[in-house]
Amino acid sequence: MSYITFEKVSKVYQNRWFALEDVSFEIDKGEFVFIIGPTGAGKTTLLSHIYLKEFPSSGEVQILGYSSKTIKRHEVPFLRRKIGVIFQDFKLLHDRNVLKNVTIALEVTGVPSGVARERAIEILRELGMADKISKMPNELSGGEGQKVAIARALVREPFILLADEPTGNIDPDSADEILNILKRVNDRGTTVIVATHNYAFLDKVVRKRVISLQAGKVIKDEKFYIK
Ligand SMILES: Nc1ncnc2c1ncn2[C@@H]1O[C@H](COP(=O)(O)OP(=O)(O)OP(=O)(O)O)[C@@H](O)[C@H]1O
Ligand SMILES: [Mg+2]
Repeated sequence: MSYITFEKVSKVYQNRWFALEDVSFEIDKGEFVFIIGPTGAGKTTLLSHIYLKEFPSSGEVQILGYSSKTIKRHEVPFLRRKIGVIFQDFKLLHDRNVLKNVTIALEVTGVPSGVARERAIEILRELGMADKISKMPNELSGGEGQKVAIARALVREPFILLADEPTGNIDPDSADEILNILKRVNDRGTTVIVATHNYAFLDKVVRKRVISLQAGKVIKDEKFYIK
C-alpha cells in the first residue's frame, strides 16, 4: 500500500526558484528511505511537503489517504499527528525538562497527563534515557538531545517518521546510535525517511531505498541500493 505519493510536484519560492521540480515517487508502508543530495538540493522542502508544512505550487501530494489538493485546513493537524518529525536542531522546549518535552506531544492531542507520562517514561527507557527524565535540555549532550526529540516523535506512534539531517550536530558514535534507533523503529513497521547530505551514512543501513535529489529534481531512485 502506498503511504506517500508525489505526482509531478513542483515548488516555487517567490515565483522564480524551483526548490522542487517535477518530483514523482511513491513510498510504501515499511520502507526505509534516504533522501540524499547536496545542500540546497531540496531535501528539507521535500520533507515539508510530506507533513504538509508546505503545499506544492503544482502537482499533488497524497499522504495516508489525504491529498494536498483537497485536504481541509482543520484536517491538517490530524494528518500531522500520524507523522513524527525530528530535526537537526532538535527543537526542544528549553524551559521544560526531558519528561515534559515528551509528554507534551501527547497532552496537546488530548491524552490524559497520567497516561502521557507512562508512555513517555516507557519510550525514554527504551532509548536509554530513563535516568535523564528530570534534566533540562541544556544539560544534555547532542546525542541525548536528539534521543529526546526522537522520543517525542515516537510517543504518538506515528505511521511515518521523518528525520531531517538527524545526526548533523552530534559526534560519530552518537550518530551511529541514532541511526540504529531509526533502524529499530523501521523494523517494527514504521516508514522511516531520512534526509541527509552525509553519503557515508548510506552504508550503515543494509536494506534501504535511496532517492537522490539535485537542484530540486530526482536524479536517481534506487529501490534496492547496493553500495
Ligand atoms: N521558505 C523559503 N523561501 C525561499 N526559498 C526557500 C525557502 N525554503 C527553501 N528555499 C530554497 O529552496 C532550495 C532548497 O532548499 P532546502 O532547504 O530544501 O535544501 P536542502 O537540500 O534541505 O539543503 P541543506 O542540505 O542545506 O539542508 C534552496 O535553494 C533554498 O534557498
Ligand atoms: Mg535541509
